[in-house]
Amino acid sequence: MNVTAYNEDLFRFIENSPTAFHAVSTMADELEKNGFTALKEQDAWKLEKGKKYFVTRNGSSIIAFIMGKKSPVDTGIKITGAHTDSPCLKVKPLPELQWDSMLRIGVEVYGGALLTTWFDRKLNLAGRVTCLERQDNGDDILKNFLINFNRPVAVIPSLAVHFERNSTTGSKVNPQLHIPPLFLLENDGKNFSFEQILMEQINREHSGIMAKDILGFDMNFADFEPPCFAGLNNEFISSPRLDNLISCHACLKSIESAGSLSSSLIVCTDNEEIGSDTRSGARGSFLESVLSRISVTTENTAITAARSMIISMDNAHAVNPSYLEKYEANHICRLNKGPVLKINASKKYASDSQSGAFFKYLCKKADVCCQTFVMRNDIPCGSTIGPAISSKTGIRAVDAGAPTLSMHSIRELTGDKDPFMFFKVIKEFFSMDDEMLLSLT
Ligand code: CO
Repeated sequence: MNVTAYNEDLFRFIENSPTAFHAVSTMADELEKNGFTALKEQDAWKLEKGKKYFVTRNGSSIIAFIMGKKSPVDTGIKITGAHTDSPCLKVKPLPELQWDSMLRIGVEVYGGALLTTWFDRKLNLAGRVTCLERQDNGDDILKNFLINFNRPVAVIPSLAVHFERNSTTGSKVNPQLHIPPLFLLENDGKNFSFEQILMEQINREHSGIMAKDILGFDMNFADFEPPCFAGLNNEFISSPRLDNLISCHACLKSIESAGSLSSSLIVCTDNEEIGSDTRSGARGSFLESVLSRISVTTENTAITAARSMIISMDNAHAVNPSYLEKYEANHICRLNKGPVLKINASKKYASDSQSGAFFKYLCKKADVCCQTFVMRNDIPCGSTIGPAISSKTGIRAVDAGAPTLSMHSIRELTGDKDPFMFFKVIKEFFSMDDEMLLSLT
């Protein structure tokens, strides 16, 4: 696969993944097409050597793995991780905000969204709805449906500059007052029901089902505009949710091309943007549970973990030339100059000298440059899934990511070669022989 084909595939993946639920569903569909067998956590597993599997939790986190022909206890498992969620606006349970003929939708801010960037943009609405469904025998069951309006159904209008004459940068955003997206205009004075609108969408997307009462939903607004190239020579990728769908996509593509001699695993978890402390988050039990089922005994699980390595992938800050003073001068990372190894003394990143060296070795083997990022001492450093997974499982970890500008904006920016360069490194990881991993102490 070359860089053009890779980017086309990435764009399609991002477009099909407006929510964490859709990202996982997109990944599951593709894994199934590529010979991975779906497992359920609530069933007993009979895993076979050389076979490929995947399992989801809450529909928003996914683990896929290849059971090596060699035992994972002997080789360890090569693991890559990413997160499926992005900052967004999550619809409140009772969201109708009706004023006169206008309906706005009440939302909570999910994660550290850069709110000013959400104004005046075309917003899509997507997510998961839980309904009662009537069965043939007359019984009701609870069933989840994914829906995606897949069109610009809402806008957050900004305040015209004429109302604040002394400001061209806009008024300060109050997330309670100013953020509810404008959703509908109607003149006949009737009351709107958000659930009714969701039900109509369920019927449009899932024909032939008997869904009735909606009893819950996890819906969020997302940028409607698809990813695109930008820059005079198309050297930038402008896209929503680059953090962290670039990495989920790289995980997916690399495990699809991994061999089956030794074991590989990808883990893409939800809720990183709110601290990962949920059952489907990196601080939850999902990965630990799957590892214990792969290794079977407590003793083997401990040995496997000690021999394994995880590359935790999450976007890294590229330098913004308009704000040079915000960057640590010796650790400036540039777009299109290679994956970024992330280091932090307070261990907001899990990398250490050994796992960092291992990552640099992989970059060398993949023939791409490796950049190193350290945050300035006078700006607090963000974190990611690496420390969460590593401390919980005992698995060695390195944090790395594709250099990105405008992180947590509704549209983020990366270099046109950055996603593919990262993929090459992960591919190298999954295809390397086991000696290097086993030689680490
Ligand atoms: Co991230």
